[in-house]
Amino acid sequence: MDHAATREEALARIAAAQDLGALEALRVEFLGKQGSISGLLKTLGAMSPEERQVAGPQIHALREAVSDALTGAKAALESAALEAQLASETVDLSLPAPETQVGTVHPVSQVMDELAEIFADMGFAVATGPEIEDDWHNFTALNIPESHPARAMHDTFYFPDKDGEGRDMLLRTHTSPVQIRSMLQVAKDSPGGAPIRIIAPGRVYRSDSDATHTPMFHQVEGLVIDKGITLGHLKWTLETFLKAYFEREDIVLRLRPSYFPFTEPSVEVDVGFALVSGPDGKSRRVLGGNGDEPGHGWMELLGSGMVNRKVIAAGGLDPDEWQGFAFGVGVDRLAMLKYGMDDLRAFFDGDVRWLAHYGFSPLDVPTLSAGVGARA
Ligand code: DAH
Repeated sequence: MDHAATREEALARIAAAQDLGALEALRVEFLGKQGSISGLLKTLGAMSPEERQVAGPQIHALREAVSDALTGAKAALESAALEAQLASETVDLSLPAPETQVGTVHPVSQVMDELAEIFADMGFAVATGPEIEDDWHNFTALNIPESHPARAMHDTFYFPDKDGEGRDMLLRTHTSPVQIRSMLQVAKDSPGGAPIRIIAPGRVYRSDSDATHTPMFHQVEGLVIDKGITLGHLKWTLETFLKAYFEREDIVLRLRPSYFPFTEPSVEVDVGFALVSGPDGKSRRVLGGNGDEPGHGWMELLGSGMVNRKVIAAGGLDPDEWQGFAFGVGVDRLAMLKYGMDDLRAFFDGDVRWLAHYGFSPLDVPTLSAGVGARA
């Protein structure tokens, strides 16, 4: 076999290889275990010493030359590939920055921020309490004793075990237990007691699910404890809050006698709306105006009342000295009314298209001066 011819042919084919794959195929063909040059090396064993002395250096030189050519060709192809990649990936620094996908603030968070802003302006602090509560704070202290039908009405999620004090543990069914916790805290910190002015926004849980109910939803509780507090203070506070929240001066409230165990007297607050026909011909409710006028109506919005004496006592304060009012309202419902969503379940689906549509810019921090609901 003429090693010079083999070498020439191999080098020519290596030089002609177009890509790394073709080059690897040639390496296997020549130098692989079954390769042609590897085969030549194996013939050395069967040769006489004299023959081997002649053929040995030739075959080794052939192997060396082919191996070097392969290495060189590989390096050349690799650097060409890198050049091509660099050329195709150039960055035009003069281009404007691409629009980045930014997250949005969920309407519930936005509304809670709006509430905090509005109530802070009226001197309210934001209080919190645990979502895992015991039945004393959630029910008993709020004048809902064991046998009370309201316990059954709350569709409570209970935990299987009791706490260290033998109390049933549950997921709070409303934010009202924060009333008790706030009063107990004040009674402990300042033996003189109140005043208290707080709102307590947060998650609450009930075993209930349809288009307007989800097992988890949001409420905000309000509590004012002071001396000489009357229903008049309650009405003014709610009116001021709702006017600021809905950004309308023509919000009209109607207070209806009602019943809650933790308030006495209790009032249900309705807000007047007008029926307006939309572009699709369907009529919509637009808040504002007196609900008794033709084409208007009343919508039930929240529960409230004067804090029951028993509740003030359970909070560690003297009901002969301190009075107050409380209210509770659904945050999700407030968001739906203001921003026009109609299915509560969508709030908790985590669908980014819904969030992109109804969410708020993280930079759009609600302030009273800019209008609490201003959209960027
Ligand atoms: N806790 C009540 C509920 O979840 C709402 C409520 C009504 C809260 C009247 C109050 C109140 O503070 O005074 O249905």
